[in-house]
Amino acid sequence: MTGTATDADGALEFPEGFIWGASTAAYQIEGAPSADGKGPSVWDTFSHTRGKVRGGDTGDIACDSYHRYREDVALMASMGLRNYRFSISWPRVQPVGRGAANQRGLDYYRALLDELAGHGIAATATLYHWDLPQELQDVGGWAARDTAERFAEYAALTAAALGDRVTRWITLNEPQVVSTNGYRNGDHAPGLRDAVAASAATHHLLLGHGLATQALRSAGVAEVGITLDVHPVRVLGDASSDALAQGRLITDAAANGIYLEPLLHGRYPGHAPEALLPPASLIADSDLETIQQPLDFLGVNYYSPIFLRAGDPADLRRNENHARCQVPGVVEYLPEHLERTNMGWLVDPSGLHEILVEVSRQAPGLPLYVTENGRAAEDYVNPDGEVDDVERVRYLHTHLEAAARAIKDGANLAGYFVWSLLDNFEWGWGYQKRFGIVFVDFGTQRRIPKSSAHFYSGVVRANAIPLLPGS
Ligand code: FCB
Repeated sequence: MTGTATDADGALEFPEGFIWGASTAAYQIEGAPSADGKGPSVWDTFSHTRGKVRGGDTGDIACDSYHRYREDVALMASMGLRNYRFSISWPRVQPVGRGAANQRGLDYYRALLDELAGHGIAATATLYHWDLPQELQDVGGWAARDTAERFAEYAALTAAALGDRVTRWITLNEPQVVSTNGYRNGDHAPGLRDAVAASAATHHLLLGHGLATQALRSAGVAEVGITLDVHPVRVLGDASSDALAQGRLITDAAANGIYLEPLLHGRYPGHAPEALLPPASLIADSDLETIQQPLDFLGVNYYSPIFLRAGDPADLRRNENHARCQVPGVVEYLPEHLERTNMGWLVDPSGLHEILVEVSRQAPGLPLYVTENGRAAEDYVNPDGEVDDVERVRYLHTHLEAAARAIKDGANLAGYFVWSLLDNFEWGWGYQKRFGIVFVDFGTQRRIPKSSAHFYSGVVRANAIPLLPGS
């Protein structure tokens, strides 16, 4: 791949053949929770449990994409998008997480894939974007080793049925979030607060990835990867401080290394806090070899960095939080000079540059895709019937500029998928947080492309971004 260049009009060009797409996930958009034989997932159970999701929202209807997928595919085509990342709901394919495939569930995805192909849109399918069949949760979920085996069986069935129509397979989306939010702090389904289960889940998710990758390869599919949420760890203040340097290493291992290192190097990171690592008793002899399968690409989701500074955990100041590294004298910090979205997430495009360059340094030659990047904003339909999401346009513009610079600086970036195509069910936040480049009126299901959709469409068609003011 060649680097980026500036064309005659001053626009920053992406390499030829760069992949442009948009992302969604099954539970966040499909609705139809029991259509055509689908079984319940942990997210059905969780969202229907009082007090778990803001406003009592559930994914029962969401964007109704189960029924409106043709409209959504046409929308993408109208924007010039040639790639779509969506996820397959495991309990549509296997209602109880084991046994024979549910043909009607597979038929839905086959119809979606045919619709995509009819519009010249290539499919990137995620096998697991958090909607575990509830029956598997009832026997331990990812804390149980058997779930990794079941996941490989589901991967094999799905690849056999849909493999001819999918360009790229992603085994798991953000296993770190599954373990941390689902099993450790309980913010996500299944809502456990159990540190032992969380570290077991980490290992079994990774093992499930390895076994599923083998199953996908046996089915003869073309490209296989995994998506991780990667967080740059940045130190503010005294760069020579030993405590901060130590804090940085440990935080990086906790947030990133626990997943990256087994996948890339077949080992858990030495610096990770012991409480987060799976106990040796769970790691069978060949597990790390199974986890370290050759990958065709790595998906990287980027939203926000982690900042550390010197501070007193016993006397936290404004914008300071306890540090997960637990190094004395170190706190996590949300710098005041950076904008925050209405999720409270920091906006820092240079973090995207940093992780792309850094991951390429750690995995030379491995193609990277940004499989998610985007922001929530307070979007509304103005009196002209338009949604002018200037914050999101600026966000995409600055992050794409960072991605282009990363390519120049050696990152092996092959594509970018915006999160998200549609406003959707934002997990524990329900419908309060809008991430779409297309506005969804959840009362009528009307879709309105926002200003960011027009901006992104222009980028995709030109394979270039306009120069940022001042650059
Ligand atoms: C990521 C999830 C995705 C979406 C974004 C905002 O962690 O993968 O489903 O919720 O955050």
